[in-house]
Amino acid sequence: MAEVVVKVPSKVNLALLVGETDPEGYHRLGTVFQAVSLHDEVRARSAEPGCFRLTFRGEGASFLPVDGTNLVTRAARLLAETHRVRDAGVDFLVHKHIPVAGGMAGGSADAAAALVACNELWGLGLRTDDLHPLAAQLGSDVPFLLHGGTAIGAGRGEQLRPLRTTGTHHWVLALSHSGLSTPAVFKEFDRTTSPRPTQVAPELLTALEQGDVAGVAQLLTNDLAAAALSLQPDLAEVIRIGMGAGALGSVVSGSGPTIAFLCDSEALSLQVGEALRVSSRVRAVRRAVGPVPGARIE
Ligand code: C5P
Repeated sequence: MAEVVVKVPSKVNLALLVGETDPEGYHRLGTVFQAVSLHDEVRARSAEPGCFRLTFRGEGASFLPVDGTNLVTRAARLLAETHRVRDAGVDFLVHKHIPVAGGMAGGSADAAAALVACNELWGLGLRTDDLHPLAAQLGSDVPFLLHGGTAIGAGRGEQLRPLRTTGTHHWVLALSHSGLSTPAVFKEFDRTTSPRPTQVAPELLTALEQGDVAGVAQLLTNDLAAAALSLQPDLAEVIRIGMGAGALGSVVSGSGPTIAFLCDSEALSLQVGEALRVSSRVRAVRRAVGPVPGARIE
């Protein structure tokens, strides 16, 4: 196999409920993930044994580390070690469209894509479920980006239960001028908030199953929102603009600062997108639909 190309989505959290911390300092989560059509592309080519190279192009590429600390090369090394791939070596080229440090799991998505790409490149024949435990070792969001769709996440976010949904969600994503560090947002949450119950509202699951987009929009929720807004107060104005333009609901995506606005049609998403685009508080606007599949070979 000369080259493998994998396309991987980003995610929004329709609900993110944050509970107690475990002994390692990770929070127990109850979340509903949805994979959305803002994709990164990961190209993997065979390289000399022991050589794990990484190049980023596109959105935020210059801010990303390309050494052994990057999740992409860590994913490839973990797969090679676990499955005893002799003479493993790989050259990655990642085209970024998912915002860096935006709360949309861009780094986790690239790691999920690297697992899928190397599985194919090295002819390992592993299924998505076989890759899941390796993904969970790499990060809490990585397993979901392997599977995609819409799913409940429990534990640290890695214990997944797929959800049946009806219809298409049209999302408008307002990207911020600067990123937020996930650990910093969790730290601010710990400083200002008590842990909460992590059971996802059954009404949200019913609305998803019935294709009731307005109902889903009313039930969007994120326990990290107050912490993200206290670190980036301008986000309150971004939410006001999007909701004023007719979005059915809004939510801080993951640990932020991306704000996701839910619409029930492409026409409404264009209208909300236009209103946000002219705001100086918004760096860029992207439109996406969900749910979409997880990391897939092109
Ligand atoms: O799992 P991942 O490496 O993506 O998590 C990044 C950071 O987010 C962790 O270092 C931790 O600070 C925080 N986190 C958490 N509880 C979770 C998931 C992430 O506190 N369940």
